[in-house]
Amino acid sequence: MTDFDVVVVGAGVTGLTAATRLHAAGRTVMVIEARDRVGGRLLTEDVEGVRLEVGGQWVSPDQTALLALIDDLGLEMYPRYRAGDSVYIGADGVRRTFSGEHFPVSAATTAEMERLTKELDGLAAQMDPLEPWNHPDAEALDRISFAAWLAEQTDDAEARDNIGLYIGPAMLTKPAHSFSALSAVLMAASAGGFSHLVDADFILDRRVVGGLQRVPISLAGRLPEGTVRLGEAVTKVEWSSEGGTVHTDQGSYRGRNVVMAVPPTLVSRVQYVPALPPVQAQMRQHISFGLVIKLHITYDTPFWRDLGLSGTAFSPYALVHEAYDNTNEDVEGETRGTLVGFVSDVKADRILALSPEARREQVLESLAGYYGEQARHPVHYYESPWVADEWTVGAFGTSFDIGSLTRYGRHLRADVGPLAFASSDIAGLGFQHVDGAIRMGEAVAARLLA
Ligand code: FDA
Repeated sequence: MTDFDVVVVGAGVTGLTAATRLHAAGRTVMVIEARDRVGGRLLTEDVEGVRLEVGGQWVSPDQTALLALIDDLGLEMYPRYRAGDSVYIGADGVRRTFSGEHFPVSAATTAEMERLTKELDGLAAQMDPLEPWNHPDAEALDRISFAAWLAEQTDDAEARDNIGLYIGPAMLTKPAHSFSALSAVLMAASAGGFSHLVDADFILDRRVVGGLQRVPISLAGRLPEGTVRLGEAVTKVEWSSEGGTVHTDQGSYRGRNVVMAVPPTLVSRVQYVPALPPVQAQMRQHISFGLVIKLHITYDTPFWRDLGLSGTAFSPYALVHEAYDNTNEDVEGETRGTLVGFVSDVKADRILALSPEARREQVLESLAGYYGEQARHPVHYYESPWVADEWTVGAFGTSFDIGSLTRYGRHLRADVGPLAFASSDIAGLGFQHVDGAIRMGEAVAARLLA
């Protein structure tokens, strides 16, 4: 068995950031990855002739760690298509087009949404997203669900449904009654404020030419040949004050330190000898992945553009609660148009119980509600399979149940002997995003180097 300074488990952006930093500082590193590819929740794949961003894809201006890395790797970006009107379907079931920031709702609902946005911006401004448990109202906000908090704030149901949408279905991908108001404020603070989350032009600003998976692929390219072992799932980690030994079915790897660069839910799937301290095991039973189906629907042409539409569509009342033009502007000669849409939490539960044919029909019906009858006739239809993938089992990321962020949050990034834990799910800024993965990878590498 070869000895390394550090063994990294997981070749997602977090693990590869840590590994490249440690290697650049002269440490010997081995990265063990269960899948037969690098990138984890980033996957840019050709599916039946269409290049799709199966996992993460968008880059926003606040994500400065990701922007710096993209620049450092020499990758290029292009803006998301956004010319034309957006579509909104309200509580009355009526489809309306709009431009600018505000949904076409009544003046009273607009005022309530603005007031709630200001309130959430204020709460987020008081939070260091690395330490949400130190927020001045942390205990109170962690005891109440986000849905109940919204109900305390306003009687306007449509304002509640829209504000709830931005953090529930659209971000944590859980129903707003199942996570705390403190988790909602964390999501907002991690993106630089709630106002950023409601601004699609900000939060879904740009895409990487060739796809976002080029980031982890390029990072892996900076490591010496043989440093990343693919197709090896870590099943057991033995540890003591001297170091850790990582076991897979194919071999064992010893490091002075071991970085578990996997989502918290998958940390618990590995056997530890000796067992992790009780708080570690208990904490991760209060963390779970959200559920969202990312849909990729390609048409002969981006027909919505001819209708004066940007492709951007929202409705807390529709099956597909948000959709965007996701045409590959970076593919030369591309004449087809692709829409990306999302079905989240309880709506995803419901349609996952249907046959694939019935599910597709319901999704296309929902899109027809936004874009008209042409939406029923795609040339290609694909659902990202993250919930069925044993090395993720959900999307986009993980979050605590009600009351657990204050109870356990401060243990999230605590080392256990030679073992360190890192992933975008435990980030402050960039929480649940690639930017947070980079920050966590950098932080763990800096800690080990110190
Ligand atoms: P990640 O999960 O990527 O990596 C962990 C790695 O560990 C995986 O490769 C896994 O196979 C491996 N592993 C797990 N257990 C193991 C074991 N026992 N042994 C060995 N290996 C093991 N973000 C963003 O910034 N913009 C966006 O637009 C989106 N959109 C989006 C859409 C979808 C559908 C998803 C699923 C996610 C996003 N995200 C996103 C989130 C973003 O993709 C995510 O936060 C980061 O890629 C996570 O990187 P990590 O390295 O932390 O974990």
